[in-house]
Amino acid sequence: MDNLKNYIGGVWKDSVTGRTYDDFDPANGELLAKVALSSSKDVDEAVAAAKAAFKKWKALPAPARGDILIKAAHVLEGRKEQIARELTCEMGKVIAEARGDVQEAIDMFYLIGGEGRRLKGESVPSEMSNKAIYVVRDPIGVCGLITPWNFPTAIPTWKMAPALICGNTVVVKPATETPRCMVRIFEALIDAGLKDYPGVINLILGSGGEAGEVIIHHKDIQMISFTGSTEVGKRIASVSAETLKRTCLEMGGKNAIIVMDDADLHLAVDSAIWSAYGTTGQRCTACSRLIVHQKIKTEFEKLMIEAIKKLRLGHGLISDVGPLINMNARKKVAEYVDIGKGEGAKLLIGGEIPTDGDLVKGSFYKPTLFTDCKPYMRISQEEIFGPVCAIIPVNSLEEAIDVNNNTAYGLSSAIITQSVNNALVAARDITTGLVYINAGTIGAEVQTPFGGTRGTGNGHREGGVQVLDAFSEWKVVTFDFSGHVQKAQIDNK
Ligand code: UN1
Repeated sequence: MDNLKNYIGGVWKDSVTGRTYDDFDPANGELLAKVALSSSKDVDEAVAAAKAAFKKWKALPAPARGDILIKAAHVLEGRKEQIARELTCEMGKVIAEARGDVQEAIDMFYLIGGEGRRLKGESVPSEMSNKAIYVVRDPIGVCGLITPWNFPTAIPTWKMAPALICGNTVVVKPATETPRCMVRIFEALIDAGLKDYPGVINLILGSGGEAGEVIIHHKDIQMISFTGSTEVGKRIASVSAETLKRTCLEMGGKNAIIVMDDADLHLAVDSAIWSAYGTTGQRCTACSRLIVHQKIKTEFEKLMIEAIKKLRLGHGLISDVGPLINMNARKKVAEYVDIGKGEGAKLLIGGEIPTDGDLVKGSFYKPTLFTDCKPYMRISQEEIFGPVCAIIPVNSLEEAIDVNNNTAYGLSSAIITQSVNNALVAARDITTGLVYINAGTIGAEVQTPFGGTRGTGNGHREGGVQVLDAFSEWKVVTFDFSGHVQKAQIDNK
């Protein structure tokens, strides 16, 4: 059994209080690790270490910072299978998806490592002669990174890699449920070269309510990047209204696939199955609404039920659908199923906790599909974050797009259609951050800007080169080589 520690100032250490908590496999309740439960003192120490390391790290040329990230990608490649298996046991997602999660971390390190050689600014003309201006990216300082359990190796790298390439130092607090995955990312970075730069990356394990709160208030942390629930995101935004920290928030989704009457229905079903029930519905990009044209609704429902019946529930090492992250998450799913029934939605399949064999040991819930849902119902509007999907019938593309756009969130949408005209209209009129044509709502690639509109975020993006804007300040440097104060400058400015 692992004993997972904080990493502060280049040293692995227990919480100063000596407290720990237990890390479990959600599929069977097996104890995986004892984990440091950090207090405010641990956070203070981590922030002080990050602050002390900042000057040296910032001074290291960006290509050299990038080389470390690229090396971390190599290290992770060698450990991919081992980490993926551990990920499945700690978080529950099936092994193929766990491999994808680790691969996404590898890809992000390669992508952003390369940015070390491209961290471009611009040269701009001046209004006056004998004057030159250039614009460069500067780091912000110490970044507090708070990361979720659903992509426990990928999402930390979406934040750590760009923070580090821009010259920031970091204090990272992973979700309580997935400390071991985060330890593996730290180990890769340390082995890739960060052991020579103590204090650049610092790990704080523990709870959001305690350690997380200290991070979001800390006076020596200049920015917070958070992925997780809307509730916590709003809390961070409201605290930051007082402290004026920069915040990058990535929160919920209520993503939909539109299935038109001209769709290839087998493609539609495949896309819907993996978007809705992959990762047990616990992606912020998961599809939880199917906006289906009335003309093909009956046939589509029949094919969906057949496909859902084939999904094998079980431990992620041997199944198609793993457990939910914990029993609280399952309770929330069960409550939403009751809400759906109460609202008059028709339950087509699922809607219960499985009771057969080993499934009773874990937080499993049967893949669930409702139909005849109205757009205003709570199950059509609120994020459930579980294997529950709502079919909403519509009569036209225009109606489908209106239903698609009309939620509090704006992350991902998809349309399945064989008409190029329908596809182009959807691409133009859908108002989410991601739009897929003839594919599901999941599977964003690291080299594209990831994020959403409305309540999904607060305007920032992760991934792509756009993420660099979240982790840097623009600095304008002006050279005046005229040797005197130029008159136009005084008159005009
Ligand atoms: C998330 O669920 O928070 O596009 C991220 C996707 C993945 C990332 C999901 N690449 O589904």
